[in-house]
Amino acid sequence: NKLEMELEAIEKGGYEHFMMKEIYEQPKSIADCLRGRLDAKAGRLVLGGLRDYMNKFQNAERIIITACGTSWHAGLVAEYLFEEFARVPVEVEYASEFRYRNPVIGEKDFVIAISQSGETADTLAAIELAKSKGATIFGVCNVVGSSIPRATHAGCYTHAGPEIGVASTKAFTAQISILAMMALKLGYQRGTLTESKYIQLLYELEAIPGKVEQALKSNEAIKYIAEEYKDVRNALYLGRGYNFPVALEGALKLKEISYIHAEGYPAAEMKHGPIALIDEEMPVFFIATKDSSYEKVVSNIQEVKARKGKVIAVVTEGDTQVKAIADHVIEIPETHEAFAPLVAVVPLQLLSYHIAVMRGCNVDQPRNLAKSVTVE
Ligand code: AGP
Repeated sequence: NKLEMELEAIEKGGYEHFMMKEIYEQPKSIADCLRGRLDAKAGRLVLGGLRDYMNKFQNAERIIITACGTSWHAGLVAEYLFEEFARVPVEVEYASEFRYRNPVIGEKDFVIAISQSGETADTLAAIELAKSKGATIFGVCNVVGSSIPRATHAGCYTHAGPEIGVASTKAFTAQISILAMMALKLGYQRGTLTESKYIQLLYELEAIPGKVEQALKSNEAIKYIAEEYKDVRNALYLGRGYNFPVALEGALKLKEISYIHAEGYPAAEMKHGPIALIDEEMPVFFIATKDSSYEKVVSNIQEVKARKGKVIAVVTEGDTQVKAIADHVIEIPETHEAFAPLVAVVPLQLLSYHIAVMRGCNVDQPRNLAKSVTVE
């Protein structure tokens, strides 16, 4: 038993929990995911798994993304990426809904299934269904040799390394990294991205691991914020555009490990319902980085402040406008807006982690949850 405990301590690499270790591994896991695939200086982007299916991918009339939980959130980010860079219509489907809906799907559809474990029962069933209708199925998985990579026509591994904590962290950022590379490749091949824009984006993506490293430096400040909000009963997460899925992911991270009720919404949807919840007790976490919807997010923040809500915002370094009105801000380095989720999610992971630890929760193995959901 003592030996087991010592072994586990070694596996945790000096961190108290796997989740914290995995959050801190992200600069490396994203770099590992990009390594050998992306070289901005050489103008090179190679996804070995796509090679034999590039034709199908390029000529697809529609991309359907299917997944569950956090992997589904990565799929939502990919919807924005594929539509912006490659101008292909995308649908993102919960695997559990897709499989039971008799979906309209055929040979011209390119289906991307995302799964950390590669064992999620609903995702696997969605794949089998799409396959039976003649679609091409591409997997984005982390666990090598698991069931999903074996059931798909082709795929790319995320190479994030083993993820032990039930709350997905480094697998999420690695999934987005793969999907971003796929979107850039597709946009370039289809001619919807000019050569210069493509090269610029390759550089932007290559710079992400360093920016995640930078974002991790806010850990102490985040701990302080966690202390202040650890006893709340509800929380709201809001973001727009590329940061809307980040809001969903922030809320999921908080609820699954701290058992605080949290909801994520597109910020503009607040006025269609959730605004009724806002009072001086309600913390609202905004992802308010400098992007094309920044000004609109600022007005959403003002709406919350006008109702005495507490605002904690993830902002771009050097921000002054949000800083002037929010209760707390957490700064992250500036990125191209399409890649902001890779950096903006990091402070939200840390925040959930600290709140859960402060509440005495079992961070790595939250109640009622399994790392891979192999039952439907
Ligand atoms: C994430 O923190 C969750 N534990 C969960 O939503 C997870 O992402 C989901 O079960 C999907 O798992 P998969 O990526 O292994 O398919």
